[in-house]
Amino acid sequence: MPTTSVFGAQWGDEGKGKLIDLLARDADVIVRYQGGANAGHTVVVGSEKYVLHLIPSGILHPGKVNVIANGVAVDPLKFLEEVEGLRARGVRVDGNGLKLSATAHVIFEHHRLIDQLSERWRGEGRIGTTGRGIGPCYADKAARTGLRVADLLDNSYCRTRLRAALAEKNALIERVHGERPLDLEGQLDRYTALAERLRPFVGDTGALVRAAAKAGKRILFEGAQGAMLDIDGGTYPFVTSSNTGANGIAAGASFPARGIERVIGIAKAYCTRVGEGPFPTEQDNPTGERIRKQGNEYGSTTGRPRRCGWFDAVAVRYALELSGADGWIVTNLDVLSGFPSVQAAARYRHEGQERRDWPAELPRLDGVEPLYQSFPGWTEDITRVRKYADLPAAARNYVEALEREVGAPILMLSVGPEREQVIPRGP
Ligand code: GDP
Ligand code: IMO
Ligand code: MG
Repeated sequence: MPTTSVFGAQWGDEGKGKLIDLLARDADVIVRYQGGANAGHTVVVGSEKYVLHLIPSGILHPGKVNVIANGVAVDPLKFLEEVEGLRARGVRVDGNGLKLSATAHVIFEHHRLIDQLSERWRGEGRIGTTGRGIGPCYADKAARTGLRVADLLDNSYCRTRLRAALAEKNALIERVHGERPLDLEGQLDRYTALAERLRPFVGDTGALVRAAAKAGKRILFEGAQGAMLDIDGGTYPFVTSSNTGANGIAAGASFPARGIERVIGIAKAYCTRVGEGPFPTEQDNPTGERIRKQGNEYGSTTGRPRRCGWFDAVAVRYALELSGADGWIVTNLDVLSGFPSVQAAARYRHEGQERRDWPAELPRLDGVEPLYQSFPGWTEDITRVRKYADLPAAARNYVEALEREVGAPILMLSVGPEREQVIPRGP
């Protein structure tokens, strides 16, 4: 397996966890490089379901090295909770198989609190964040007031930096938001104690991944969120605070961009979004409700019902282009079984003009109207199909239309949450 980037090509929850787990069989090192515990990556193995938030989705395969690189925003509480949760289920998790970057930024309780208070402050203009402290942590990173994992491990330095940070955050919490400030000493004690439990996992993950590549090891980069939630390329301000695609790897994993040999986007056969913000092909109607029901579309991290709609080839085409994808994988094709007809948009209409390109210059996507094509549906249960030729003709017809409109080869199709429920794209 060449050094591979796998990323979400929609608004998140495309099935990245399932595919990473599958591809991890042929990898040596699996690397998360951005985001944090806002992610919820589901892996189903037999009757067991795991939802991973911070730990890479390769962790269920023994003998692999799983890396949380410097670009990830790490909440030590969530990290340790996840480690313990996996151990309690018999998954081996130790400092050999799981590495945490010394220079990853730390999410503190004040980040989570300010995330939630800021959302309240925004009122109608809220983003609908996961409340995990992601935005405030990355804001502090950019403002150079954050603390990194290594800073946390240096007890006296941590106290100095955290004291300074908290003094400012407490003023914000108290004077702007009118809430009770956090107890400085309590927080200092709590986080310096947590630091000790992180220590066995901590190292220079950039050096590790670069050395692994030099030694010919197979590396798999696991994107979180999706291209349309990317802070630069997505539907700003309704985005997350990191670069979600292959574009985030160089900085987020301290791995040279030219070392990435293969890039794969993941997209559902329809589209979902959690939280606020533009979603051109949204079906806020019985069709969307039916997709939600058949696809069980509820957030893996927050449990919120996901907004559902038809496949948007304009968005996926743009997402694949941004990351220079070699191809893509369609997931959840099985969810569309039973619809009398299925639709997809490959063009938008805006001010009387038709366009195929993503309208990045329109900040709010106001007045953008997707132009749908309708395709005959299929009624067969396709969850047991393992050969492309065995799919119903109508399903193949739909898949081939998506492939044509997106303009990049489909490499594989997923027809259920389990590992073996995949179909290579064949003739
Ligand atoms: P991620 O964030 O991209 O890893 O995706 P999530 O785990 O948040 O959401 C994807 C959901 O769809 C999970 O419940 C998966 O178990 C499930 N899933 C993944 N692939 C398929 C598929 O091909 N068909 C169906 N029906 N479910 C799938
Ligand atoms: P995975 O990796 C879907 C969304 C939130 C919100 C916006 C900002 O499972 O695909 P944040 O907490 O990041 O500041 O929230 O981004 N969001 C996701 N939506 N899947 C995710 O991750 C998401 N992570 C964040 O709902 O709209
Ligand atoms: Mg998810």
